[in-house]
Amino acid sequence: MHRHIGLTAFPVKHLPFAVCLPWLIVLAVKSDNGVVSRLEDLLKLDMAPFTDKIIAEYIWIGGTGIDIRSKSRTISRPVEYPSELPKWNYDGSSTGQAPGEDSEVILYPQAVFKDPFRGGNNILVICDSYTPSGEPIPTNKRCRAAQIFSDQKVIDEVPWYGIEQEYTLLQTNVKWPLGWPVGGYPGPQGPYYCAVGADKSFGRDISDAHYKACLYAGINISGTNGEVMPGQWEYQVGPSVGIEAGDHIWCSRYILERITEQAGVILSLDPKPIEGDWNGAGCHTNFSTKSMREEGGYEVIKKAILNLSLRHMDHISAYGEGNERRLTGKHETANINTFSWTEPEAGIADRRCLGVVVDDLGYLEDRRPASNMDPYVVTSLLAETTILWQPSLEAEARAAKELQLQV
Ligand SMILES: *[C@@H]1O[C@H](CO)[C@@H](O)[C@H](O)[C@H]1NC(C)=O
Ligand SMILES: *[C@@H]1O[C@H](CO)[C@@H](O)[C@H](O)[C@H]1NC(C)=O
Ligand SMILES: *[C@@H]1O[C@H](CO)[C@@H](O)[C@H](O)[C@H]1NC(C)=O
Repeated sequence: MHRHIGLTAFPVKHLPFAVCLPWLIVLAVKSDNGVVSRLEDLLKLDMAPFTDKIIAEYIWIGGTGIDIRSKSRTISRPVEYPSELPKWNYDGSSTGQAPGEDSEVILYPQAVFKDPFRGGNNILVICDSYTPSGEPIPTNKRCRAAQIFSDQKVIDEVPWYGIEQEYTLLQTNVKWPLGWPVGGYPGPQGPYYCAVGADKSFGRDISDAHYKACLYAGINISGTNGEVMPGQWEYQVGPSVGIEAGDHIWCSRYILERITEQAGVILSLDPKPIEGDWNGAGCHTNFSTKSMREEGGYEVIKKAILNLSLRHMDHISAYGEGNERRLTGKHETANINTFSWTEPEAGIADRRCLGVVVDDLGYLEDRRPASNMDPYVVTSLLAETTILWQPSLEAEARAAKELQLQV
């Protein structure tokens, strides 16, 4: 049977699947004898008239803290909430998550999205991982984040997040950005940001297929654009509230991995995929609390800035592996070692080179997180530092002086 199924590399600009949503179709199969269309017919089968059963894809974060794993199971009827779903298990020794003897890890369903790949009533289920005795395993960052977000002080502040996820597409065999000549470089940055045209924009169908698939799934995706480095893209998710911001970003990353898998293109979340005069990839995080959005909010934001400056290194160490290669003070970034920020009307020539940018509209933009950050960690740390954490009076006074900030 497999002899009839050859893998075909489609040039990315000809990817046919964008038109096929919500049931993205396997496209890497080619044959002369109708295997393709018979497989497509089966993949598109609508099960609903024949059975109540649905397929749930359980998704979790693997041992590196950035790899995504998933497997499927049958559920007896359509469900809406994670509480209706059973726990499940996996073998942690195969995902780098079994430090002890017992390699059994338990998956707790936490968030449900519609499955844009299988369509119908089928679902994607974001899970987190526990030992059989109910302890979160070390790579489970969601559990701690959920604790912070269930603190009454945090709940009362209704923390909003807008997250800009940047990513780079790589050619499969050579691991070199899409659209770049193999072994060489494209012309310098300038024409590629938000560009159109075959010589400037590479991978649009992937970005577009992802956009529609995310909307179908129920993710609060709010836009996409081509980035400064050719082969690099961005999408924005938000506004989302509390722990849901992390669930939405992880689900959107899962969908992107699946689409790039189908397209035969590699997804890279490396913060600086190409050394030299090429932009890195970040995950700028907009953050706002209820009191920042209300009258007098600007004073609250300034207090938050003070707290953020005092915990700069704690934040940096939680903002993504390899971020020091990106936060150099060049290519629209701040220097990793110093906290920098600006007020809305400060008239600073290039606000893009600052760590945190404050807006008059009641929020701040943390530009430090890298593209491979864990959104559970970043969103909950922002809430903790600005809503729960109390600096000592001395530290506060020192920081206020350093930042020349009156609070
Ligand atoms: C975040 O804030 C910046 C600066 O105000 C804005 O340009 C951007 O659209 C916002 N992004 C999201 C996802 O909210
Ligand atoms: C998605 O965005 C809408 C506003 O557009 C907001 O009301 C809703 O709470 C958001 N959903 C989540 C899960 O945060
Ligand atoms: C830091 O955050 C806490 C909690 O919101 C707040 O009470 C405090 O005033 C903030 N620190 C400073 C220096 O303003």
